[in-house]
Amino acid sequence: MKKTIKDYDLKGKKVIIRVDFNVPIKEGKIIDDTRIKESLETIHYAIEHDAKVILLAHLGRVKEKSDLEKNNLEIVAHRLSDLLEKEILFSKKTRGEGLEEAVQNLEEQEVLLIQNTRYEDLDGQKESKNDKDLASYWASLGDLFINDAFGTVHRSHASNVGIAKLLPNGVGFLIEKELNALKTLDQPKKPYTLILGGAKVSDKIGVIENLLPKVDHVLIGGGMAFTFLKAKGLEVGKSLVEEDKIEFCKEMLEKYEEKIVLPVDVNVTTEFDENAKNHVVAVDEIEEDEMGMDIGPKTIDLYRPILTESKTILWNGPLGVYEMKKYQKGTKDTLSIAVRGNRRLILGGGDIVAAAKELGFLHRVKHASTGGGAMLEYLEGRDLPGIDAISEEE
Ligand code: 3PG
Repeated sequence: MKKTIKDYDLKGKKVIIRVDFNVPIKEGKIIDDTRIKESLETIHYAIEHDAKVILLAHLGRVKEKSDLEKNNLEIVAHRLSDLLEKEILFSKKTRGEGLEEAVQNLEEQEVLLIQNTRYEDLDGQKESKNDKDLASYWASLGDLFINDAFGTVHRSHASNVGIAKLLPNGVGFLIEKELNALKTLDQPKKPYTLILGGAKVSDKIGVIENLLPKVDHVLIGGGMAFTFLKAKGLEVGKSLVEEDKIEFCKEMLEKYEEKIVLPVDVNVTTEFDENAKNHVVAVDEIEEDEMGMDIGPKTIDLYRPILTESKTILWNGPLGVYEMKKYQKGTKDTLSIAVRGNRRLILGGGDIVAAAKELGFLHRVKHASTGGGAMLEYLEGRDLPGIDAISEEE
């Protein structure tokens, strides 16, 4: 068990909390503040326990000067202030006298958000390359380090791994919640079903290799299903196919024939355009000029008994092009089956969580991870440096 924020007396301490405020922004507006909301429990706790709260977070990627403005974290300071109903101090810079003074003057229960940690990437990628001097500079600002940025735990950066090595540390409530949810997958209640969607097989190779031996069934939909169908010898028209992954799919189909469930019908169209005509066909009837956009109703009928029987369902990736209303049905109908009953349903990866939110199912899901890449790497069985850097309970 990792140490947590609860293991420390916070009163009067300068507590640096690494949060994941990497939220989508469009035309100067935050379009999904889930990650900010998910961080509130830990921030509230620190405030209630009289800490002087210092927040570190990144936003987007900073490669050149022109990236600075669009990735300015100040917009998040305003949203956080609304959510906490409290003034948030903001340091426009990631280091320097202004920041040091703000830290020095910080009172108990006050919150200071530091500018996007990746501003430091402009000069030699100091944040992303876990520069020692940068980590010790940030560590010098606080007494204690709490990592609550689950979405970033697959990164080994100065603001999560570097700093953790230099201060007493622990995880916050969000990371604790995410880890507890993932732990249930170590010994899942059976039957255990994996639903895999999304565009590409190549994004999921590690997940497939790591999880196929452990699950009872895997239901494959989304764009990636077509490379599997092609591997079975079917013609899939203009559907997305990764030619160089056909061999891999063949191997998986041979090895896990009993577990893999592929679509039997699909919703097809001739143009990747919502206004183009569409219809449902059996998978062996896709015309040369057609492409698959969603799974069809007979496929959902095939999924239904498997899902109804399952005690654990892990789902990564939407089953159709859900961004277009016409092609939401497969993901929507499957969600409506999966959320029913007393089973553990875990959604991992940004797209399926966004789809569940848009389709109105998120509140019925047992656990929706805030980690995109982090969750995928966990599912691939890889180490998560942001977690490894935190001390174990004695
Ligand atoms: C994410 O959005 O997955 C995390 O915030 C990590 O962001 P990154 O992929 O830019 O490191």
